[in-house]
Amino acid sequence: MRNPLSSAPVVDFHRVHLKYENGPNVLKNIQFSLERGSFHFVTGDSGAGKTSLLSLMYLDQRPTAGRIHLFGQNLSEVKRTQMPKLRRRIGVVFQDFRLIDSLDTFDNVALPLRIDGMKETEIQKRVNELLAWVGLEKCVHAYPESLSGGEKQRIAIARAVINAPDLLLADEPTGNVDDAMANRILHLFLELNKMGTTLVIATHNHGLIRQFKKPQLHLSNGVLECLPAPFEAPSEIVSNAPEFLGGNHDFEF
Ligand SMILES: Nc1ncnc2c1ncn2[C@@H]1O[C@H](COP(=O)(O)OP(=O)(O)OP(=O)(O)O)[C@@H](O)[C@H]1O
Ligand SMILES: [Mg+2]
Repeated sequence: MRNPLSSAPVVDFHRVHLKYENGPNVLKNIQFSLERGSFHFVTGDSGAGKTSLLSLMYLDQRPTAGRIHLFGQNLSEVKRTQMPKLRRRIGVVFQDFRLIDSLDTFDNVALPLRIDGMKETEIQKRVNELLAWVGLEKCVHAYPESLSGGEKQRIAIARAVINAPDLLLADEPTGNVDDAMANRILHLFLELNKMGTTLVIATHNHGLIRQFKKPQLHLSNGVLECLPAPFEAPSEIVSNAPEFLGGNHDFEF
């Protein structure tokens, strides 16, 4: 039987407010919904509330008022014991990376697959392929403390996409890499998007916003405005991203 929730928006905010303890109202009356397979940038000045908005979507914060549905489920009705299952459907690239210091690059990226119980031979194949894609073959056995900001950021991205999540939330994912790598990462995200992943990417990178022509959730002093895509998205994008993430292999980068 068809799941009655399958056509529900992936994310649905209804009159959501967020206020940190002893702070001002950071998000005010936020209302929007994101359909499955959509791709939005989150834009706005530093301090506008982008990270706060994402933190509500990955269940790190609870709204002070209003209602949030994720995958058709009202978050205020989700039990604590059900949270990990919901979180496993969401890939997150944190602005501050949040890698596990006691794990090397390979094990940080493999973590979501191990939690999912994937066979170790398949994990080896996928992780190595993805690490090569983001140019980290030489850092496979390095620990986070010995890596640069850009390397750590790419590990955080690999970990977030390795299990092709239903929803990908990326907070300033290209802030520490050069333009060519930023472009490459966006193409990886596009491949996931083509396979059905809903994308929400907070960025200050106006070059990417101009190039990828996606609608924006624009925040200004905690107030959200939904801006449409500037014009039609580019036609078929071909990429040699890892095949398990939907890549086809005839693209010269
Ligand atoms: N844990 C917290 N406790 C109290 N205030 C917070 C907390 N996190 C963020 N804020 C405040 O909320 C506001 C929005 O912060 P947020 O990190 O969401 O902005 P941002 O748009 O992501 O900024 P940036 O572009 O610099 O990353 C800021 O004024 C910030 O100081
Ligand atoms: Mg932020």
